[in-house]
Order: sequence, then structure tokens, then C-alpha cells
Amino acid sequence: MKDLYTLPKAELHLHIEGTLEPELALELAARNGVELPYDSVEELRRQYDFEDLSSFLELYYATTAVLREASDFEALTRAYLGRAAAQGLRHVDVFCDPQAHTVRGVPLETVLDGIRSGLDAARTEHGITSTLLLCFLRDRPAAEALELFESLGDQLPRIDGIGLDSAEVGHPPALFEQVYARARAAGLHVVAHAGEEAGPEYVREALDVLRVERVDHGIQSLRDPDLVARLVAEQVPLTVCPLSNVRLRVVGALAEHPVLDMLGRGLLVTVNSDDPAYFGGYVGDVYQGLRDALGMTDEQAAALARNSVDASFAGAQRKRAVHAEITAWEQG
Ligand code: HPA
Ligand code: ZN
Repeated sequence: MKDLYTLPKAELHLHIEGTLEPELALELAARNGVELPYDSVEELRRQYDFEDLSSFLELYYATTAVLREASDFEALTRAYLGRAAAQGLRHVDVFCDPQAHTVRGVPLETVLDGIRSGLDAARTEHGITSTLLLCFLRDRPAAEALELFESLGDQLPRIDGIGLDSAEVGHPPALFEQVYARARAAGLHVVAHAGEEAGPEYVREALDVLRVERVDHGIQSLRDPDLVARLVAEQVPLTVCPLSNVRLRVVGALAEHPVLDMLGRGLLVTVNSDDPAYFGGYVGDVYQGLRDALGMTDEQAAALARNSVDASFAGAQRKRAVHAEITAWEQG
């Protein structure tokens, strides 16, 4: 068996705020004078026992409040990329949640300055390429998302695409039709979380109304055989997050996770870490977890890595280069 941590791979479903480890959270809280109701790393880590998506989001937004300056966002981004580089990451499409910051009075420009600096540094230091996608919070008004998008102005070229996240049930994709149309018209990539906790109809809406290029999570599609057939036929990429699904109780245990069955059925699945600081592992740990729990073969791992490259928003030349590295890993 080969080392899954050296398998060259891309990650397509990664919330930068979800890479905030307790150590950095407490350091930034002290530096920025932000009160967190937890005094130690251990106490903070003890909160990481989630019942569902909502219980996770509550803690996620609370700790996010420690991020205030551009240098905080840069430190966060650099820390993530350093860890992921050590686990074989070659390219990442990064999500960020601007509204989680703008509602606290942190300007969007500050957020973008910091994350962009971190991404630029990773290109030089680790050779990792990246794109940046802004996610709208679906449990806030669609009008606010539109307003945020319109407010980008001359900062629009600093982002590569948009996504949709936060509490899913009761907040269907179609509510965001208008802002997605604007983003598509501006030439941006468009993706959306759908079918994490809500049903297959949310996945259909994301495809038909928002016209997304990828579906984030999407595992509830398995409840609808016609939808599965369509996803196979159209080769719609699904960014599946196995450790997240277990921690948020979408799936009972990693040993029961359907991701390898999905791969076998011809779905274009990729595996990703989602919020690695909270869900027990970075992208290499996800691959290793699938080997440990499901007996994933080297062949399946390489197929998932190839899918991650194909479905990424990296350029064609970059994709070819990483593909060659995956082949070398297989032959090595
Ligand atoms: N789902 C929805 N919203 C999120 C997530 C997630 O897994 N992580 C951060 N925001
Ligand atoms: Zn997510």
C-alpha cells in the first residue's frame, strides 16, 4: 500500500474559517480583545461534539469572531496551507464566508487582503495553486447576498466564484436565483451546498435554477435514483466530505459512508475536509480514514485524486501537471 499523504490531490470543499484551530483562536482572541467563553484549548476542543449542522455552525460563527485584521486572515490561511501541503495538497478552491465578518464590522476588503496574501504565499512556499470562492449564508436574506455581490465593485476580480452555505433546511437554493444569475453573467464560477441535510430536491434546484458547476456534499441525492442517473450522465462533480458527514451525524460512522459506492456507480465524486479544524482531519487524513474504515484501495484513492483535479477550477496546464504527478505516485 502506498502513502496516501504523498498522493498529489486537490481540495474543492474547504471553508477557510473552518481551519481555525483552537490554539490560533485563543491567541487571536487575546490579541484582539475578543471574549470567547472558553479559556483553554482543551475546553474549546471539548465543544467539538456536534449533534447536527446547526449545533456546529453556532460554535463556528462564535470562534470566527476572533478574526479581525487582515493579518489574522493571512495567518489562518497560511496555517491551513502549511498543514495541507504536508498532506499532498497541490491545488485548493477555498471558500470564505464574508457575511460572517461584515456583520461584525470587518470590511470585506480586509478579509480579501488577508486571505489573498496567504494564498499568494502558499504558491511561493509550497507550490500550491488556488482559487477563492465567496459563499453566501443561505440563512440570511437573499437581498443581503445580492447587496454584498453588488458591493464588490472593483474587488470583483479578486474572487473566482461564489457558493452557498450555512443552515440548509428551509433555505432552498432557488431563493438565490438572482445573485447566481449576476455571478454567472460576470463570468464567475458557481457552486452551492445542496443535499447535505436537505433532500434531493435541493440538489435539483441547485442544478436547474442556480445552474451550478458542482454540488457541495450532494450525498442526499442517493435517495433519488433518477437524480443519481442524471448526476452520472452529466458527470456533475460532488464534493463529498466524509469526516464532516460523520461529525454532523449525516452518516452514522465512517465505515458506513457511501462515498466508495458512489465512485463505483460512476458518480464524479471527490473527497474533501470541509472544516478540518472541527471535524478531525485535513484532506490527507480524509483519504487515510477511508482506507482505515472502508478498505479503500490505492486505485480508488488515485481515482478520487484524479477526480479532484478534473473537477477543480485550476487551469488546464496545472491540471495536466498534477495528473502527471498522480501517475508518478502510482508508478513509484
Ligand atoms: N455546511 C454548511 N455550511 C457550512 C459548513 C457546512 O458543512 N461549513 C461551514 N459552513
Ligand atoms: Zn461545507
